[in-house]
Amino acid sequence: MTDRKSSLVLPGPLLLVGAGKMGSAMLQGWLRMGVDPGLLYVVDPQPTPELKAELDKRSIPLNPSAMPEPRIVMLAVKPQILKPALAAISLHVGKGTLVISILAGATLGALDAGLPPRTAIIRAMPNTPAAIGRGVTVMAPNAEVLPEQKAFAARLMEAAGEVAWIGDENLMDAVTAVSGSGPAYVFYLAEAMAQAGVKAGLPPDLAAKLARATVSGAGELMHRSDLTPEVLRKNVTSQGGTTAAALEILMAPDGLEWLMNQAVHAAAQRSRELGRG
Ligand SMILES: NC(=O)c1ccc[n+]([C@@H]2O[C@H](COP(=O)([O-])OP(=O)(O)OC[C@H]3O[C@@H](n4cnc5c(N)ncnc54)[C@H](OP(=O)(O)O)[C@@H]3O)[C@@H](O)[C@H]2O)c1
Repeated sequence: MTDRKSSLVLPGPLLLVGAGKMGSAMLQGWLRMGVDPGLLYVVDPQPTPELKAELDKRSIPLNPSAMPEPRIVMLAVKPQILKPALAAISLHVGKGTLVISILAGATLGALDAGLPPRTAIIRAMPNTPAAIGRGVTVMAPNAEVLPEQKAFAARLMEAAGEVAWIGDENLMDAVTAVSGSGPAYVFYLAEAMAQAGVKAGLPPDLAAKLARATVSGAGELMHRSDLTPEVLRKNVTSQGGTTAAALEILMAPDGLEWLMNQAVHAAAQRSRELGRG
């Protein structure tokens, strides 16, 4: 479905390199935002039949042997193949090309080292809710990125949800630990709630249904509300009630906040290690 009001006009050809989970999610988002398929090009050595059918339907070239110089290259391959992917991209990159990388741990320095000198590069970290247009992407530009390229990159990534910028690339490890890996923490919360429900006597199917609906419903409520999570929490907590009894455990000094600190610290540390290769 195309939303005419938010139609996204590309400044020129866009080359997507790597159309796996994230690349395909972004592609779907751009098409939903009304991007001209005539400006899209995709490189992926082993596309799924669904992707191939989608590209065929819209006449989007797959693995083209030649293409006009792209204004944007979106790099969405696995970090393990960064070097060969950059070597392949470099054949297409021109003076006006902006390269956006979503590769976890690939620093601006590592990207710059594999691309022609003075290439405009943005390092971006999206998360999996991008697949339904409800992700959040944090971006860090290098010194070559022009203001209009920054503005356009933000529009492009808004197809996957919300966007935030950081000036200090070093914050990317903490970003990865909070929003990049964060969806898994929330899924685990639903798993833990279901397990606790079973231990409290509920049939497993019902416990799983209640946990899933509660986590997704509370997430949606938070998404639609202007209130902070703290106010929303207080709104469902009456003094001396059942929620207060549970929160007393969760908010103890060695409770959820302590655990979350440990978890985020571990993820950020791992992100730093991966970045060093
Ligand atoms: N998924 C997430 O939550 C998430 C969040 C933030 C950032 N990221 C980053 O996003 C990137 C992609 O992740 P993903 O989950 O989308 O991985 P993925 O599903 O494995 O997608 C990568 C795609 O690139 C293709 N590919 C392999 N070699 C290629 C080449 N030489 N040229 C072009 N395409 C090539 C792969 O094909 P084959 O399958 O045939 O190898 C696959 O379709 C990763 O670097 C990851 O760090 C992911």
